[in-house]
Amino acid sequence: MKITVIGTGYLGAVHAACMAELGHSVLGVDTRPDRIARLARGEAPFFEPGLSELLTRGIESGRLFFGGSLEDAAAFGDVHFISVGTPQLAGSLAADTRFVEAVVEGLAPHLRRASLVVGKSTVPVGTAARLATTLASLAPAGSAAELAWNPEFLREGHAVQDTLRPDRLVAGVMSTRADVMLRRVYAPIIEAGTPYISTDLGTAELAKVSANAFLATKISFINAMADLCDAAGADVVTLAEVLGYDSRIGHRGLAAGLGFGGGCLPKDLRALLARASELGVADSLRFLGEVDMINTRRREKVVELARQLAGGSLTSVNVAALGAAFKPETDDVRDSPALAVATALHAAGARVRVHDPRAGDNARDAAPQLEHAADVEKAVDDADIVLHLTEWRQYQQIDPLALVAVVRRPVLIDARNALPHRLWQEAGWTIQCMGTGPGLTVAAQDAAPGHGYDEEEMCGCW
Ligand code: UGA
Repeated sequence: MKITVIGTGYLGAVHAACMAELGHSVLGVDTRPDRIARLARGEAPFFEPGLSELLTRGIESGRLFFGGSLEDAAAFGDVHFISVGTPQLAGSLAADTRFVEAVVEGLAPHLRRASLVVGKSTVPVGTAARLATTLASLAPAGSAAELAWNPEFLREGHAVQDTLRPDRLVAGVMSTRADVMLRRVYAPIIEAGTPYISTDLGTAELAKVSANAFLATKISFINAMADLCDAAGADVVTLAEVLGYDSRIGHRGLAAGLGFGGGCLPKDLRALLARASELGVADSLRFLGEVDMINTRRREKVVELARQLAGGSLTSVNVAALGAAFKPETDDVRDSPALAVATALHAAGARVRVHDPRAGDNARDAAPQLEHAADVEKAVDDADIVLHLTEWRQYQQIDPLALVAVVRRPVLIDARNALPHRLWQEAGWTIQCMGTGPGLTVAAQDAAPGHGYDEEEMCGCW
């Protein structure tokens, strides 16, 4: 099929490359010329495992192109995916849908033949119905140009695999024709046994935000239990292990620590709350506000722990922040808990040096007031406190004995409960975790790799 992907961010670039991998002819379009130029050279404009290889393969096969305008897209494709951002509106909890609206308004006047416009962006329920009306009124093809909604559930860091082998496909459609076209787009994935659910537009829109709200609730639940464990002298890592063996609960998304961040979970949670309020059902979803607050308090808690370990004041305290990305395997620092902690410590008077294996450049752009180190040794040099904020695998392999000689005081806050604590303790470190009681508990000693979780789950990923 001839497909266009409009918006080539974390979602669109991966989607375009994966559609070409499935055998379609794909044109990726974006308003950012620098991004398009890089993609056209086969370069991933952000770190995403496996993406560069897929881009190169698609381009070399002659099926994947980048560049052009919405008019070019309309001429090229039969199916147009919209994958532009819907960030949180400034000064509001709601999502800003103006970029999605602009694409529909810009594309529709060029649609002169039968085509399907498929929204992938995460939008408040009701947006797609509104856009369907816009499309019908602006497209010269009239009702032959149709809208559908096909939310995307990919996780950064696992985006290629999640797109080519998703848990499920959801198609919000208004006609059998749209359903048939989407089934053709995803035919190889459906044939591989992936559940495909076709539904109305609103249910499809809600499928995405409610999945993210549920995942956020699960994380905040275990983080609330972490507070209880701290107060009771119990161990949340073991508690999560026990809970996760209940097959109705499961281990994934039960890693207590610094909480969730990124461009999706926090803003989707808030947008859902805002939309529920508009629809008059704020009471039913009020708990999501609490989920958000529990999450924000994790960041404050780490700052407070650092203050306590520094003896009550952070002024002129040397802090090494290991990690800036919102989670491992990405260079994305949007609403990153790690960077939020680092900047809060800096604002409280600490001298903060940040290291991240992949997100260094983005962290420097987002927080130029911090010092940015090229490697772990430089970050921890002369540190009074080392904070483990993003659970990159590389940090789990650090030799804690070697670092003792470099730091001023061997004090570690493992805000992700993911380091091999026994090793660090034997090397002479004082360790503070999240939800393991005051100081380190016995159960947490072997918490890092191999505590009843597979490695992926220990990395805080679903
Ligand atoms: C999330 C969803 O998982 C995807 O299904 C969805 O498609 C995507 O948002 C989106 O809306 O586009 P992502 O933001 O890439 O994906 O990240 P996750 O892997 O879900 O992690 C989110 C945050 O939760 C991270 O900060 C992570 O560190 C944290 N987390 C995760 C925990 O604190 N504990 C856990 O047990 C798991």
